[in-house]
Amino acid sequence: MSKKLLLILTVLVISSMFFAACAPTTEEPEVEEPTEEVSEPEEPAEELAVGIVLPTRDEPRWIQDQTRFQEKLTELGYDVEILFSQADPSQEKANVDTLITKGVEVIILCPHDSAAAAASAEAAREAGVTIISYDRLITDTDAVDYYVTFDSVAVGEAQAQYLVDQAEGEGNPLYLYAGAATDNNAFLFFEGAWNVLQPKVADGTFYIVNSSEAVALQDKAELTRDEMGQIISQITTNWDFDDAKSLAEANLTTASAEDKGEVFILAPNDGTARAIADAFAADTDVSNYFVTGQDAEIASVQYIIDGKQSMTVLKDVRMLVDDAIEMAVSVVEGEDVETTGEYDNGVIMVPAKQSEVITVTQENVVEAIVDSGYWPASEFTGLDELGEVPTEEVEEPTEEALDGSDVYVCQITDTGGIDDKSFNQTAWNGILGAEEAWGIQTNYLESQEVADYEKNLNAFIDEECDLIITVGFLIGDATAAAAAANPDVNFSIVDYAYDPAIDNVVGQVFETDEAAYLAGYAAAALTQTGKVGTFGGLPIPTVTIFMDGFAKGVAKYNEVKGTEVEVLGWDLEDPDAGLFSMSFDDQQKGRELAISLMDEGADIIMPVAGPVGLGAAAAIQERGNAWVIGVDSDWFLTSPEYADIILTSVMKLMDSTTMMVIEDVITDTFEGGVIVGTLANEGVALAPFHDAEDLVSDELQAELDQLKADIISGAIVLD
Ligand code: BGC
Repeated sequence: MSKKLLLILTVLVISSMFFAACAPTTEEPEVEEPTEEVSEPEEPAEELAVGIVLPTRDEPRWIQDQTRFQEKLTELGYDVEILFSQADPSQEKANVDTLITKGVEVIILCPHDSAAAAASAEAAREAGVTIISYDRLITDTDAVDYYVTFDSVAVGEAQAQYLVDQAEGEGNPLYLYAGAATDNNAFLFFEGAWNVLQPKVADGTFYIVNSSEAVALQDKAELTRDEMGQIISQITTNWDFDDAKSLAEANLTTASAEDKGEVFILAPNDGTARAIADAFAADTDVSNYFVTGQDAEIASVQYIIDGKQSMTVLKDVRMLVDDAIEMAVSVVEGEDVETTGEYDNGVIMVPAKQSEVITVTQENVVEAIVDSGYWPASEFTGLDELGEVPTEEVEEPTEEALDGSDVYVCQITDTGGIDDKSFNQTAWNGILGAEEAWGIQTNYLESQEVADYEKNLNAFIDEECDLIITVGFLIGDATAAAAAANPDVNFSIVDYAYDPAIDNVVGQVFETDEAAYLAGYAAAALTQTGKVGTFGGLPIPTVTIFMDGFAKGVAKYNEVKGTEVEVLGWDLEDPDAGLFSMSFDDQQKGRELAISLMDEGADIIMPVAGPVGLGAAAAIQERGNAWVIGVDSDWFLTSPEYADIILTSVMKLMDSTTMMVIEDVITDTFEGGVIVGTLANEGVALAPFHDAEDLVSDELQAELDQLKADIISGAIVLD
């Protein structure tokens, strides 16, 4: 451990002693004995009379918690239901009611709205169910039994301390942002930040730019909750990326040039930090900015590596999850519950257990995030360069090294978003690969709806991108129109081939039926019920080609083995009767379709609908007796939270084809036409079976290898 990290840890341990300031410690915190690890999961998973309710799937922070809960519960051999409230207190209450009806004894609840959740806690109390408030405190009720949390005041202190450490001299512009006023934590974070920043405003190191309420209170060392509320109402992000971005942009519009230059920004968490950082980076009057965060989200760790976010506070969710589960198990088993302090929720002092936090910057990111096993190195690019001491000498480029530094490549997504774990993200990975390999400049715009295609295309044409990559069959017409109107701009579109070809567009299309055929054959071999299922996002060729290949693979198996495995959701003879979610982003719909397919008996399901498939995966995981086949990327890697139910994936390697096109632009050999990804050129592939490998006999693997060879050689033709 470096001295720096040790020092940070020490500071945080010391600052945690001030836990008492808001949460008087009733007992001496005990040194935790490492809990014994149970390495072999018990079979089958034991039902634990505990349910978990998390605030929203839409923030990576809570997906982290879900994943870590699942990892831990699998390790311990427990089966526990995890529900999301989607930022809606009435959904949260419904989730709690569902769990009560199912007979749980403990509910671990992370409220969306601290005060509104009182009703849920009271319903649980009424039913004799113990409530453990998780990460966020449920306020305004006596019906909360315990609280597991990080030291949230220390989070704010760590963020503020970082800014103080970077500031030199006097008169530095300080921009303040906060979380949602409905979240008790937002107050604790702000309290911590104020503890450290207020003296530095008082001594002139900083002046506050964007909050008249904070300026009015800047001489007060300690604020009341109401006073904090007044400030927060002016600087809240609502924990929302878009709100954060608009507020930062509005602040920058009103700020004068002298409020810019080198600036210091208190951003409350990683999601909002990235949005705020992007807004400040785009302002040409801002010469340098320091911006804080928290949660160590993968995207923010990458921002830190890239120098776009200055720090994050690592709240090791594994510790919080361990504490919550340990507490819940103690309650279920009637044992004493270990707590180390108390938090005031406005009505009672809630017995609490609290975890420490760690400041992460470029200097310790490898140690704190990768070496600690929090996230694998494979999630990031540019880690290697971090430790390097810059030398005076410029390395001679090797003869083959391509320099793409003056090439600007821009992606426009389809409606699933850049991180859809599906085609948008895979194409973007190709761009990131090119950035890493050849140093190109990159950018993307997300399309929220079809109407955005043209707007986004025009924006990138105005930005003079050297190559505009559009993603998805649906953006085909808009891309053709833009290409015709701008013959000097290079385009490439994933999932579309023009006939006749357009001179300045490379279409990338994929024979995904080849890989889906292998998946269908494997599914037919492995089904226990004799029924497998599939559904698509929309009845468009790029979707139905997967379904065709899958059904043909099943038919091949039936032909070879004399079986009658049925395909639900897709009939090669009657495509009009196919099953579709009619959406690429409605996960609830994916969930419903998977449930209906499982109800009809399917035990292996291939959803071909981008993120909608993740809804299907969630339903399959909850049911626990079926498998999902991923599409586009290897879901085992991109959606590890579903690793236990992923049989394999039909991969469409849009990253490789995207890199091929970019290379042509860099080398000035770009020509309109089409690239076809096949099994032969590894543009499509069947992913490994990973954890399901034990199911696949040597015989089945040999058959799959042979089928692949036959497709490549043309002995099997799919048309
Ligand atoms: C959590 C943070 C999270 C924020 C937004 C807070 O209550 O403690 O980790 O970033 O909510 O979801």
